[in-house]
Amino acid sequence: MKTQELITTAKAMMAGSKGLLAMDESTATCNKRFAEAGIPQTIEYRRAYREMIVTTPNLGNVLSGAILFDETIYQGTNDGVLFIDILKKAGIVPGIKVDEGTIDLAGFPGEKITKGLDGLPERLAKYYELGARFAKWRAVITIGENIPSRGCIEANTHLLARYAAMCQEAGIVPIVEPEVLMDGSHTLQRCFDVTRNTLHELFDQLYAQNVDLNGLILKPNMVVPGLDCPMQASIDEVAEATVTCLLQTVPAAVPGVAFLSGGQSPQLATAHLNAMHVKYKGKLPWALTFSFARAIQQPAMDLWKGKDENIAAAQKLLYQRASLDDAARRGEYKPEME
Ligand code: 13P
Repeated sequence: MKTQELITTAKAMMAGSKGLLAMDESTATCNKRFAEAGIPQTIEYRRAYREMIVTTPNLGNVLSGAILFDETIYQGTNDGVLFIDILKKAGIVPGIKVDEGTIDLAGFPGEKITKGLDGLPERLAKYYELGARFAKWRAVITIGENIPSRGCIEANTHLLARYAAMCQEAGIVPIVEPEVLMDGSHTLQRCFDVTRNTLHELFDQLYAQNVDLNGLILKPNMVVPGLDCPMQASIDEVAEATVTCLLQTVPAAVPGVAFLSGGQSPQLATAHLNAMHVKYKGKLPWALTFSFARAIQQPAMDLWKGKDENIAAAQKLLYQRASLDDAARRGEYKPEME
């Protein structure tokens, strides 16, 4: 195993107060977001959108890594410069989403399992050659009546651990993402319990599969009440529940934790990350950063609308969002900065 290379990559991904940008929406998800924003759903618009993102001036000041999708990793600018080369030049480590989405979990109504292990070693070797140095696999855990089941948590975390082992073999740092969804009317406490169980099982599985914890990044959800829960939580309550949950489950050997935003507004996701740093500064064993998709991209996508004349303004918004998250990682974000 290329242990030293994995550790060096993970360190670069967690550098300074920067974070990661997930720009790895599958074609279906990207098209869905485009449809909502009134943008035509074609390969050329998806390419142009990603060009807008990666050519944002000074992006390397606030981002340490960017997660690409298979379609995007082969694409480049209108003038023919590959996106992956632009990222590398900006000092941003390129990563790649390697899971192939979710399907129904047989035997467990209402639950999902992630696809994509077949042929994964070959795909990882190809992505490494192209320049990707980390990967992402997202598992989905749904909270509902009598779910998540033990079977769902075990199956999903086992696949995450197998994926992680294959990545490390290929010299690629695995981001392991067990996302407990925000959909539903469950309480903060219920999200805490489910996230805690899931992370506990995940680290058991990673241990059982000989995954080197020094060479992986965890991408969890924050601990929040369900979107339809009548009792929403304060920013400080979310920060405290989230960090408490992580401290109880994530070994100190893990170099970094990078949150997904999961449907939180950009402002709230930033404020939550900031509150964690204000409250726990200097007391955490791992780096704590962001790996947002919607919470960084959404305002810029809505403004871009697929029009060239909006590129500069959209890039400004994208940079602003990422730099607010960078400030949050230092505990220096204030709502007035919005
Ligand atoms: P969101 O920040 O939009 O939840 O996306 C993060 C991600 O990469 C999901 O896999």
